[in-house]
Amino acid sequence: CRCSSKSFQRHCSRISSKKVRVSDALSSEETGANVRIQGWVRSVRPQKDNLFLHLNDGSSLQPLQVVASSHLNTRDLTFGCAVDITGTLEKSPSKRQNVELHAQHIKVVGECNPVDFPFKIKERHSLEYVRQFPHLRCRTNAFSSLLRIRSEATAAIQSFFRDNGYVQIHTPVITSNDCEGAGELFQVEPAGHKNDSDDPNPHFFSVPAYLTVSGQLHLEVMAGAFSAAYTFGPTFRAENSQSRRHLAEFYMVEAEIAFTESLEDLMKVMEDLFKAATEHVLSSCAEDVELFHKYTAPGRRDQVDLMLKRKFNVISYTEAIDILKSSSQNFTFSTEWGCDLQTEHEKFLVKHCGNVPVFVINYPYELKPFYARDNQDQPNHTAAAVDLLVPGVGELCGGSLREERLELLSQRLAQAGLADTYAWYLQLREFGSVPHGGFGMGFERYLLCILGLHNIKDVIPFARFSHSCLL
Ligand code: 4AD
Repeated sequence: CRCSSKSFQRHCSRISSKKVRVSDALSSEETGANVRIQGWVRSVRPQKDNLFLHLNDGSSLQPLQVVASSHLNTRDLTFGCAVDITGTLEKSPSKRQNVELHAQHIKVVGECNPVDFPFKIKERHSLEYVRQFPHLRCRTNAFSSLLRIRSEATAAIQSFFRDNGYVQIHTPVITSNDCEGAGELFQVEPAGHKNDSDDPNPHFFSVPAYLTVSGQLHLEVMAGAFSAAYTFGPTFRAENSQSRRHLAEFYMVEAEIAFTESLEDLMKVMEDLFKAATEHVLSSCAEDVELFHKYTAPGRRDQVDLMLKRKFNVISYTEAIDILKSSSQNFTFSTEWGCDLQTEHEKFLVKHCGNVPVFVINYPYELKPFYARDNQDQPNHTAAAVDLLVPGVGELCGGSLREERLELLSQRLAQAGLADTYAWYLQLREFGSVPHGGFGMGFERYLLCILGLHNIKDVIPFARFSHSCLL
């Protein structure tokens, strides 16, 4: 470049430098390369002749060390500011990193007042503290690690299903059914919509419409044409619960498999999915995962390795009740046959089974929604339903074989007064019905389990729960 003005030369050097990400720079073998890196300053250490910076752009947990000589204008460089740096990658004399960036030009793109910035340099902030700043917490080490893990786990789950021949279905977010029948629905109407009593059609969709609580029924439609289908998307439940494992909006992975007559088939898919996704996350996000296993949940790594190595346990609901009743533990909730298993029961059962995940099968028929297949057994009447319970969390997956027999399904829907609502669902059993089944896995609960975290609000980018919808 033969330009003479200094600023024009800087401009030319910026456009001729290759733009790279911090993760690429850190793994670069090439020294002397001219590069341009953009990111946020994680630490600033002024020394006699040089200024040392740590730069992060979200691509890795480890920051890139930047060395800026004192003749550069570094006045506005503070912790948290956004910068655009050009320079050369050089071998670092420090043992902590292979390469460092020797800055030739630094532009502060966005200033940051470190006094007002809620995170302080070199301080380890608790997850509870950073939760107060949903718009900024992705700038902390722990939360950016979490989001990288979440992204890789999503990719691993998609690959698992693709590799095993499943078709991905985008099931609707707005629906007119309450799949689980639990009444935990958010109703959808346009903002400001008035229920005018004179209007023969008071609803926007002409019928009451809700945010989906599960994509299962739509997947069942698809299982009538594809042998295996899955969906992975946001799911909504108006649970008025402040618990550490419930959200009003969470992500659910759901699979539906046609031509299956056994819970064993479903359990195999759940176990294989859990293990394949976890192995991928452990290998592709080793540093990020280690951050949690080392500082937040010591001992969890051994537990995760155990879960991967051992075959998951299987017990019946009736056996689970026997285990709970014969234990010396004082439970808050009932342990009589017919009761729903509560978190305290689930956690006890997992411990009882050696801290390895356990499938509980064949639940009381009356506890399960209309779609669950009747086992037609006596005297304890059960449905072919299964829950997967995992260490640290309790219930991770819920699934069942579906009632494919038209007569039994019609009877159950009629008893519940739902025959008209689900006329279309009954038709699925009239036209080429096959035995089928499926399950749903709570994605945030999966992350809690493998990382050993305790609060579901710490594993989702923007948590929604009762009395809280920040941003
Ligand atoms: O057991 P659930 O209610 O099962 C269903 O919805 C089935 N229709 C799924 C299917 O068969 N396709 O929910 C499945 C999982 C639970 O095991 C739990 O992990 C998670 O979804 N889950 C929640 N996660 C976070 N917050 C909530 N409020 C949740 N409710 C359920």
